[in-house]
Amino acid sequence: MTTLVPGTKVVIKEKIMINIGVLASGRGTNLQAIIEAIEDGKIAGEIKVVMSDHPKACALKSAQQYLIDTRYIDFKEFKNREDFDKEIIKILKEKKIDLVVLAGYMRILSPYFIRAYQNKIMNIHPALLPSFPGLHAQKQAIGNGVKISGCTVHFVDEGVDSGPIILQKAVEVSDDDTEESLTEKILKEEHQIYPQAIQLFSESRLMIKGRKVFIK
Ligand code: GRF
Repeated sequence: MTTLVPGTKVVIKEKIMINIGVLASGRGTNLQAIIEAIEDGKIAGEIKVVMSDHPKACALKSAQQYLIDTRYIDFKEFKNREDFDKEIIKILKEKKIDLVVLAGYMRILSPYFIRAYQNKIMNIHPALLPSFPGLHAQKQAIGNGVKISGCTVHFVDEGVDSGPIILQKAVEVSDDDTEESLTEKILKEEHQIYPQAIQLFSESRLMIKGRKVFIK
């Protein structure tokens, strides 16, 4: 049974439901994994909006299939990154978003955005940070001949893939792995740890001290 309490939160069997806003630029397989985790009751939350800087992002189509509100925001309509981010923040505020989830979002957030949602923005990166930040992490891993790579969920700070680490999962890199095969291997693990990290956040079990995230 669902009981409405004053404010935006909904309590289901004593669980606080968080409002999630997702930013995605492409495929949206992580978004799909998160939606499924919510449907399975693993995350006490609801995706209130999915926004993209690409009108044809598959992530928007997937969200629409679940009747989630979607918005395309055209970067060209704004004079700079901060103004673009202000428009996104306006929508996040309207939707009373508690957690911003970057799921393959290909833009760097402005310091203004980071400050507005300090410690409330998560990202997933296809490498074991702090190794191989930035673009083409899997290609960097193959090129450097590492035997182990993986994925990292982290809070977002003002740097590139540099915020406090929440969860990581390792995968073995075999001699015959290509960028594509490693991407596939890592993606499977991303789909496990991203929903887990969001679940931990929704249960208020993440505590940040300096660069370290403690799981209660
Ligand atoms: C993933 O590899 C993720 O680690 C990176 O962007 C990719 C997004 O994939 N940040 P998808 O759009 O969720 O399929």
